[in-house]
Amino acid sequence: MASIASAAVIGGGVIGGGWAARLALNGIAVKVYDPAPDAERTLTDIVENAARALAKLSPSLSLTRGAITFCASLEEAVAQTPFIQESVPERLAVKQAVHAEIGKFAPAGALVGSSTSGLLPTHIQASMSGPERMFVAHPYNPVYLLPLVELVAGKQTGAQTISKARQLFQSLGMKPVVIRKEIDAFVGDRLLESLWREALWLLHDDVATVDEIDDIISHSFGLRWAQMGLFMTYRLGAREAGMRHYLNEFFAPCLKWPWTHLMDVPELDAALVEKIAEQSDAQAGDRSIRELERIRDDNLVAIIRALRNSGAAGWGAGAVLAEHERRAAQTAPGLRPSGLRPSGLRLLEAPVQPQWLDEHGYLSDTGYADILCQSIQALCHHLGMNTAHFGLRMDQLKLNRTLDLDSLMDIYCTVRPIAWDDVRLQTFHQIHRQADGQLLATAEMTSIHMDLRTRRECPVEEPALERLKTLAEARPAPPH
Ligand SMILES: NC(=O)c1ccc[n+]([C@@H]2O[C@H](COP(=O)([O-])OP(=O)(O)OC[C@H]3O[C@@H](n4cnc5c(N)ncnc54)[C@H](O)[C@@H]3O)[C@@H](O)[C@H]2O)c1
Repeated sequence: MASIASAAVIGGGVIGGGWAARLALNGIAVKVYDPAPDAERTLTDIVENAARALAKLSPSLSLTRGAITFCASLEEAVAQTPFIQESVPERLAVKQAVHAEIGKFAPAGALVGSSTSGLLPTHIQASMSGPERMFVAHPYNPVYLLPLVELVAGKQTGAQTISKARQLFQSLGMKPVVIRKEIDAFVGDRLLESLWREALWLLHDDVATVDEIDDIISHSFGLRWAQMGLFMTYRLGAREAGMRHYLNEFFAPCLKWPWTHLMDVPELDAALVEKIAEQSDAQAGDRSIRELERIRDDNLVAIIRALRNSGAAGWGAGAVLAEHERRAAQTAPGLRPSGLRPSGLRLLEAPVQPQWLDEHGYLSDTGYADILCQSIQALCHHLGMNTAHFGLRMDQLKLNRTLDLDSLMDIYCTVRPIAWDDVRLQTFHQIHRQADGQLLATAEMTSIHMDLRTRRECPVEEPALERLKTLAEARPAPPH
């Protein structure tokens, strides 16, 4: 549960929009100030994309949404607001002017973060009043999905500011890392910059194309980095010989080899710019930025979900999500009886899959069974089960088709626990067409709770059992 009720976002572009989405989707009321005429439309699109991605990432986290209000002035946005995040263009003079204004109108105890990718907080806070409130909170795009935020203090940042900021970002489901020394571009962008400079050389020298460089990254160490970073990955490369041996025997001599151009950066002249732009356009083909963003988000959702189910507590970015869900479960408004729809929880929304249809284009028996199994899987996630180790296996199914439709488009499925004993769970499901809510089928299913490692039945454990009881005993919400 977030530790604040309201926040202000100054600058509502790619990053400000991402912050607004993360804050609002954590139940926080967000006030936005951005003078651009199309800012509201851009930001609304970003928030809708974010809501879609977050609902897939974690159905149990997408229950409450804070209101987003556009303000006519910066003063209106920051007045009486405990947390202000600035995301205006990366120019020191612009940032300084905006922070001077924030300093004038923000409450004395507010936290004031800047999304700058590399400017020093000492310079940004130089001409503001109350500079002890200001620090860098550098996120990664898309802010609503990627958990990392680098926190950097300037010379005038207060001793308590960074520890308060750390708690705040944790409550937003993020992974704050406090950077120990204030340096240009902090840590993440420095690492990226070194890879970027080397890539420019490889492209300049015709060693590889844009497409080939991206394939090399995304099909090999990119996947390793997503779950173990750099040093842990090398540690595994060292195997039993250990890191010391590996560093002395392998890396030390390598560092003297001519394996990098890093100190010698190619001129980003018109020819090189044209070369990159042409290859990048060809790589994207007909796909729009919005389509590519959705593909990227779906991929990130899949990776982070997989990492959440790794081991008992998740791994890397997945461990951050698991911890955020655990905290949210303790205060989840969705578990109150009034939060349940009479028909149950809407946990599964999906486009119709070709394999669900029979040769006449109707939803087949196996299609229904697949949808119901997926909704049971979504229920397991909602209950906070560790789905790497435990699962619900279908034992009996009673299906009632209400209507056969041959143009289904997307569907959604609701699920409601009816009864359970030590190892069995009985659930009631409704499958609807998403476009108009048309009921297609209802089903009663009995599932067995299994330990997937021993392949034996086993009782549902806490905290999932407690959440199951609360759900099953919840009374339907009264009609509005
Ligand atoms: N794009 C990224 O991948 C990324 C990642 C991390 C951090 N950042 C940092 O985030 C900040 C914003 O970057 P972006 O990519 O969102 O830029 P952007 O150009 O998409 O958005 C900037 C927004 O600020 C608004 N703006 C300009 N002057 C303003 C003012 N005086 N008051 C309020 N709003 C104002 C603009 O209208 C625009 O909507 C930069 O400091 C950037 O370095 C960017």
